Amino acid sequence: MQAIVKIGTFAGELQQTIDREFQCHGPEDIARDDGLRQSIRGLITRSNYQVPLALLELLPALQVISTCGVGYDGIPVAYAQARGIAVTHTPGVLDDAVCELGVGLLLGLLRDIPASDRFVRDGRWSDSAYPLTTSLAGKAVGIVGLGRIGRGIAARLQPFGVALAYSGSPKIDVPYRHVQSVLALAGECSILIVCCKGGSETRHLVNAEILQALGPAGYLVNIARGSVVDEEALVHALTTGGIRAAALDVFEDEPLRNSALTSLPNVLLSPHAGSATREARTAMLRLTLDNLHAVLNGQPALSPTPRIG
Ligand code: DGY
Repeated sequence: MQAIVKIGTFAGELQQTIDREFQCHGPEDIARDDGLRQSIRGLITRSNYQVPLALLELLPALQVISTCGVGYDGIPVAYAQARGIAVTHTPGVLDDAVCELGVGLLLGLLRDIPASDRFVRDGRWSDSAYPLTTSLAGKAVGIVGLGRIGRGIAARLQPFGVALAYSGSPKIDVPYRHVQSVLALAGECSILIVCCKGGSETRHLVNAEILQALGPAGYLVNIARGSVVDEEALVHALTTGGIRAAALDVFEDEPLRNSALTSLPNVLLSPHAGSATREARTAMLRLTLDNLHAVLNGQPALSPTPRIG
């Protein structure tokens, strides 16, 4: 069985599938066993993890880095491509799952579904009135990044009777209004949904100024990458009434620990679980493994990341 390096953890049932096809080693095995280090040709990871450049430098025979996810901002892609190492990802197969979570988080946020659950469990229903929440219908929703996920979210939200606009992507032929800047978009919407790519170009795209434009009645949903939102500015806006509330699936530092976000009542948190359905993760893993098999057998990758530079 072909030996590969694995960075990160996979759910038990997925790990069993990997173990049937490859023999996984952690970076610590590479440090201990020089023969193994020299012979490793494949690396598997998930998009929530960082692949250190220093580790790649230790692997002279590496031919493919296959990430189980669409994002590849944790991989030194330019370095890998310059060395002729294929980098592959899993676009397309997780869109439904991520869009569903995005819509779910938005509804959960507006209707405060976690609080309503606690209200019933804590026995408060019989002696107090449940606080009023707000409807999605009639709201102006701004989508930052109209790629596959952004378009999927827009299509799912349209039947709710919202006014949709987008920014952070070139104007395309869709029935939603294109707004030149994210700042202008935030200024005219009460809900901003972040769906763009991570990486250096979008780092802190949603900053204090954007949050101020979104305003005290504004809601932010981030299902993209934690790096896109300036988290310190977000905590400030959430604690000072700068915006009303936020739903976050992704964070600047994951897993989230010791963050002010965990003690704020106006935040709905999710553990980077956009694609975490059995259906999506099974399809993602299949493509991840097929990419590894293809390159290791001398075939072209099935879904390579775009070339950089
Ligand atoms: C992705 O595919 O990039 C997702 O964020 C992984 O969960």
